[in-house]
This record gives sequence, structure tokens and C-alpha cells, in this order.
Amino acid sequence: MAFEQTVLQAAGVQNGHIHTIWLVLLYICGVMYLLVVCFLVWALWRARKARHSAPNPDAPGMSIGLYAWIGLVIAGLFGITITSFAVDRAIFQSNQQTGLVLKVTSQQWWWTVEYENDDPSQTFRTANEIHLPVNVPVTLALSSPDVIHSFWVPNLHGKQDLIPGRDTDIHLQPTRIGIFRGQCAEFCGAQHANMALFVIVESQQDFDRWRAGQLQAAHEPADSMASHGRDVFMTSACALCHTIRGTDAGGMTGPDLTHVASRVSLAAGTLNYSRGNLAAWITSPQGVKPGSHMPKVGLSPDDLQSMIAYLDGLK
Ligand code: CUA
Repeated sequence: MAFEQTVLQAAGVQNGHIHTIWLVLLYICGVMYLLVVCFLVWALWRARKARHSAPNPDAPGMSIGLYAWIGLVIAGLFGITITSFAVDRAIFQSNQQTGLVLKVTSQQWWWTVEYENDDPSQTFRTANEIHLPVNVPVTLALSSPDVIHSFWVPNLHGKQDLIPGRDTDIHLQPTRIGIFRGQCAEFCGAQHANMALFVIVESQQDFDRWRAGQLQAAHEPADSMASHGRDVFMTSACALCHTIRGTDAGGMTGPDLTHVASRVSLAAGTLNYSRGNLAAWITSPQGVKPGSHMPKVGLSPDDLQSMIAYLDGLK
């Protein structure tokens, strides 16, 4: 799967503004650095030539050069201050509109994503993946039940912490279609590094299609093997932690699996989604993601194959 994860290729209004200030800082500081190095080299060269004569502070041009240098420093700092003020205002302005509201909850070590709506029948929950329509402003309400995490999708915006007991939010407005990887940016325990998420920015039509699919209850098993897999899931420990809408599984501890096979990754970006990786993850959660709260569920090879056939059908 091809995705982007860089602060230097803006894919959102907010990161566009941040990118502006980054460039201004780079150019101003770069020019000043080069000037300092040039003057240093010049001074060393002159010192070699004039080793036996005392420096003359009254040399012509000395005070003019000094004032020019002070003026340059002030102009540079002024440029940075003005840009930073303008960028701050621009980001604040872009936070004032909202087309879509999502609730994102960080967990050790994955993300719950809830699409909110005034009509409860239009809300749904997914995990480790956010789909957004391009050019639509969106507000993400952030919360954390355990420790401090940080939401960071470099192409779209800067970082925003998720703090237990304190609600925060972040506003995004993606400007181009693509898959953008995000990463928890605050050390939060053993699997902090494997706490990723993917933001999939798509056209409004694609987003509506995806949303309509997510609103549906889980697909019925396609064959007898998958049907047996569903029975195994419902009678094992799996159903105690995971929800599959439209079935008896209603656990809230782990990610909602109603459409797990439609996602691009497993275990919060630890593995790409594939049937083989799904088998690896279920067979050995601690091998794939040591310390994760997903326990190993003892299954016979037949039961495991059936369960994978069932889960892989949950598109
Ligand atoms: Cu969550 Cu680091």
C-alpha cells in the first residue's frame, strides 16, 4: 500500500500554513547562517594578513557595517514574527468551520474512531482508520481513557495531545486525495511505535460509498466454512472484547470488527491487512505486537481457518 507521511508535502489547509512558516524560517535562518560563516572566513583571512598591526575600530565603514548588520537581524526577526502571527491567525480561521465531526479515542495502542451524527442511526465506529472527503473541514474531538497520547498526521496538521480527563480537539481540512499515515507522537508504553493510523482522503462520492458500507451491519458468512467461523468467534473469548454489529458480539475493549476486512492495516498499522497477516495476528498477538492487550485465543487449526474465512468476509 502506498501512503505518505511527511510534513513537507502538505495535503491539508493547516499543514499548508505550517509549511509556509517552515519555509520562511528556513530561508531567513539559512541566509543569516551563510552570512555569519562568510564574515567569519573573511575575518580569519584578514587576521592572517594583518597579524602584526593592531585592529582599528575607526576604520572607514566599520560603524556602517555594524548598523547594517543590526538592521538585518532586526528585519529577519521581524519577518519571522510577522509570519508566525499571520500563520497563527490563518490556522485559527481555518478552525472556525466544521463539515464533519468525529470522535477519536486513543487506547494502548490503537485508535477508536466514531463518526458522529445527530441521527444515532447514522453513527458508526471503526478503528485505526479515518476516511475523509477531500476539501471538507472536519473536527476531531479527542480523548484518552488511559495515558497521554498524541494525534499526528504530518501531511495534514501538527500534533495534538490526547489527555486523560481533558477533552481536546483538532481541525483538519484535507486538500488532496491520498492515504496519509499518522502516528502517536507521545511515548505511551510498550507499543507506542506501533500505534499508527491511516487517514484516507477520497472524493465525496467515494466517501459516501464508504460511509454507506460502514453503516451497514456485518455481512452474513458467505459459505459453511465462514459460518462455522462465526460460531467459533461468538463462542470464544473474541466476542467478549470485540463488537461485530448485527451479531451477538458486543465487546468494547478491542476494535470494532464489523468491517475489519475493509481496512488497510491490522493492529494499528503493525501489519498490512491481508488474510495471511490476519492469521498471524490471531495466532500470535504477542509475537506480532509484544505487550499488546490482545490475548492469544487457543484455536484448533480448523477453527482458526474458519474464523479467518469469516473475518475476511467482513468487508
Ligand atoms: Cu499512544 Cu504513543
